[in-house]
Amino acid sequence: MKKTLALIFSITMIVTFTNCKGKAKTVEGTTTQTEGNTLGKAKYLATCASCHGEMGLADSATGKAMKARNFAKDAFKAGKDLKSVIKTVGNGLPGTAMIGYKAQLNEKEIKAVSEYVIELSNKR
Ligand code: HEC
Repeated sequence: MKKTLALIFSITMIVTFTNCKGKAKTVEGTTTQTEGNTLGKAKYLATCASCHGEMGLADSATGKAMKARNFAKDAFKAGKDLKSVIKTVGNGLPGTAMIGYKAQLNEKEIKAVSEYVIELSNKR
C-alpha cells in the first residue's frame, strides 16, 4: 500500500514537472506547443528558409540578394508580437520580396510558422 502511494506520488510529480517545463517556454503570449512547432518548422523550412535561411539569419544567397529579414538581428518593422507577425506573413510587406502567404498556407499553418519565426528571433 505504501509502495502504491509512493508510486502515485512520483507519477504526480513527474506530470507536474513536465507541465511546468512546457509552460516555461511561453514567449510573448505564444504557447510553443509541440504540434505547432513541428508544423511551423516544417512549413518554415519548405516555404520561408530559401530567403530567411534555415535558422532565420537570412544568410542564404537568395536571402542576401533579396535583403530578407535576419530574424535574430533586425527589428520587425511591422511588429514582433504573434498577431502582427501573423498579419505580415498572411498579407506580406507591399513593395518588398516578402509576399503574403495566404494563398499557400492555411490559417493554422500561418500561425504555426509565425510562432516559429518568433522562436527563431529569440535565439540569440
Ligand atoms: C522570396 C524571399 C522571401 C520568402 C520566401 C519569405 N520572405 Fe519574409 N521577408 C523577405 C524580405 C525581403 C523581407 C524584408 C522586407 C522589407 O524590406 O521590409 C521579409 C521580411 C519578413 C518578416 C519581417 C517583417 C517585419 O515586420 O519587418 C517576417 C516576419 C517574414 N518575412 C516572415 C516570413 C515567413 C514566415 C515566410 C514563409 C512563410 C517568409 N517570410 C518567406 C523575403 C522573403
